[in-house]
Amino acid sequence: MKIIKTKDYAELSQEVFKVIKETLETYDEPSINTTTGASYDGTFELLVQAINAGELKIAHSIWTNLDEYIAERDKSFTVYTYMHKKFYDLIKEKPKYIGLIDGSVSDIQGEIDRYNEVLKKYPRDLQIVGLGVNAHLGANEPGTSFDSRLFLANSVESTIQSTMQYHGLTREEAPTQMITMGLADIMEANHNVVASSGVRKAQAVRDTLEGPIHEDCPAS
Ligand code: GLP
Repeated sequence: MKIIKTKDYAELSQEVFKVIKETLETYDEPSINTTTGASYDGTFELLVQAINAGELKIAHSIWTNLDEYIAERDKSFTVYTYMHKKFYDLIKEKPKYIGLIDGSVSDIQGEIDRYNEVLKKYPRDLQIVGLGVNAHLGANEPGTSFDSRLFLANSVESTIQSTMQYHGLTREEAPTQMITMGLADIMEANHNVVASSGVRKAQAVRDTLEGPIHEDCPAS
């Protein structure tokens, strides 16, 4: 494990950008699975700039996502909306394959089965995850088994509050469930990157790096 401390958010975004760039330039058909959210807004901006400037090739790569809220796809807070508004709709060159989880379907198990096939087909070279304020990964909240696989998860209150803050939602508008890759799925990738910034994440970072490896701290 390599720990990179950066002086600010801009440098953090640069570091993650470098990891993604290296992945895109190393593999013939790089498979990248990513989360969304505040931790990676800057990284996606750098990716868009580099791709549109012709400095970074993406047409040979596979992109999948870590999780998705149970909601209509066009809601402002969905992973679908994030990935399109902040990445796919902005880049001139598109990836070879884009695979998103659909949290709007009535047959949740059917969607889990479908996406499991996608994950099986595209083993991840790079997994990008974000740290929850309680050290969750994806929607694997504290107490989730380290053996978890793609499943329907309930979010805890601190996660719901973070989602409300980031997306400017009321408690009634905020989603409370996600289909999420499990911790075992996350650990399968060749490389994992976990970026974290801000005082609100400080305790989660400490617990992850200095605390015991325990299911109460999913990121541990
Ligand atoms: C959320 C999402 C994750 C995300 C994480 C951190 O609850 N389920 O996919 O990576 O928490 O989000 P942020 O970077 O906005 O703090």
